[in-house]
Amino acid sequence: MIYLYMGKGGVGKTTCAAAHAVSLADSGRKTLVVSLDPAHNLGDVLDVELGDEPRKVAENLWAMEPDFEKVISKYLRELTERVKDVYGYLKIFNLDNYVDTLRYSPGVEEDAVLRKIMEILKMKDYEEIVLDTPPTGLTVRMLVLPSVSLTWIEKLMELRLRLLGARRALEKLSGEKLVIRRGETEISVPTDPEDDPIFKELEALRKEISWVQGILTDGGRTSVSMVVNPDVLSVREASRAIGVLRKVGIPMRRLIVNKYLRLSETPSELEETVREQEEALGLAKKELGFLETVVVPLFPREPRGFEALREVARFLA
Ligand SMILES: Nc1ncnc2c1ncn2[C@@H]1O[C@H](COP(=O)(O)OP(=O)(O)OP(=O)(O)O)[C@@H](O)[C@H]1O
Ligand SMILES: [Mg+2]
Repeated sequence: MIYLYMGKGGVGKTTCAAAHAVSLADSGRKTLVVSLDPAHNLGDVLDVELGDEPRKVAENLWAMEPDFEKVISKYLRELTERVKDVYGYLKIFNLDNYVDTLRYSPGVEEDAVLRKIMEILKMKDYEEIVLDTPPTGLTVRMLVLPSVSLTWIEKLMELRLRLLGARRALEKLSGEKLVIRRGETEISVPTDPEDDPIFKELEALRKEISWVQGILTDGGRTSVSMVVNPDVLSVREASRAIGVLRKVGIPMRRLIVNKYLRLSETPSELEETVREQEEALGLAKKELGFLETVVVPLFPREPRGFEALREVARFLA
C-alpha cells in the first residue's frame, strides 16, 4: 500500500507520515518512508541522518530524503540526449541553452517529484510505502500532472497521426519516398506510426504516465490522508485541495486533525483559542465530514524520535 500525507505548511505532515511508518514497521511490515519535500526534515523528525538512498533506520524501516536537484539534472541530461537522437536535424540549435532555461520552467519541480515517485513505486523491496509531501500547492500540482499530461499526450498523438497521414498522401501523389536532404546525406522521413520515433516516444510516455495514474487513482493501492490543524485556514485549504484532487480521480481516505488542544480545564487566556478550535472543527465536519476523521492532540513537546512518534501513532490507528 502507498500512504500519502498532504496538507498546508507546518500542519504536521512529516510527523504523521513518520509516526505511521514507525507503527507499520513495528507491526512487522517492511516499510519505506520517503520525504518528497525538497526542504527535507524527515531525518530531523525521526532523529536520524538520511540521504538520497533508502537507509535502514530500525527493524523493518527504511527512510530516504531524495536529492531533487539530482533528479532534475539527470532528467534534463537524458532529455537533451533523446532530443538529439530523435530530432537529429536540431543539432544546429544550442540545446544546452534550451536546457538551462527549462530548468527554471514551471512544472519542472512537480515533474521531478512525480518521477521520483515512479522510481520508488518500481522498487520491489517494500510492502508499505509512506510518502511525506511538500505543502499543498506543489503536491496538488504534482498529483494533477499525470492527468494533465495524458490529455496533452493524447492530443499530440492525434496531431502526429494526422501529420503522418498527410505524409503518406504526399508519397502516394509523388510516387516517391519522402526524404530530407542535408548536403550529401539523405534522411528518410517516417510515414508509419510504427517507424516514427516521435510517435513511439509519445506512446511510451502515455504508457508510463497511465501506469502511475492508475496507481494514484486506485483507492485499493493508494491511501491519501489530509492533515489539518484545528484552524480555519488549514481546513479551507484542505477542502479546496480535496475538490481539485477529486476532479482528477484521486480519492481521499481520511482527515487528520493534528495539534488539537485538549485541556481538562480551560484557563481564561486560552478561552478564545479553544473557541476558535471548535469553530474550525465545526467547519471541518461541515465541509469534510464525509471523510473518516482522526484527532491527534497537541503534545507538550515536538514529537521527535521513535518513542515520541509511537505516541503520535497511537492516535492515527
Ligand atoms: N501533535 C503535535 N504536537 C506537538 N507538536 C507537533 C505535533 N505535530 C507536529 N508538531 C510540530 O509542529 C511542527 C511542524 O510539524 P511537521 O514538520 O511534521 O509539519 P509539516 O506539515 O511536515 O511541515 P512542512 O510543511 O514544513 O513540511 C514541528 O515542530 C513538529 O514537531
Ligand atoms: Mg514536512
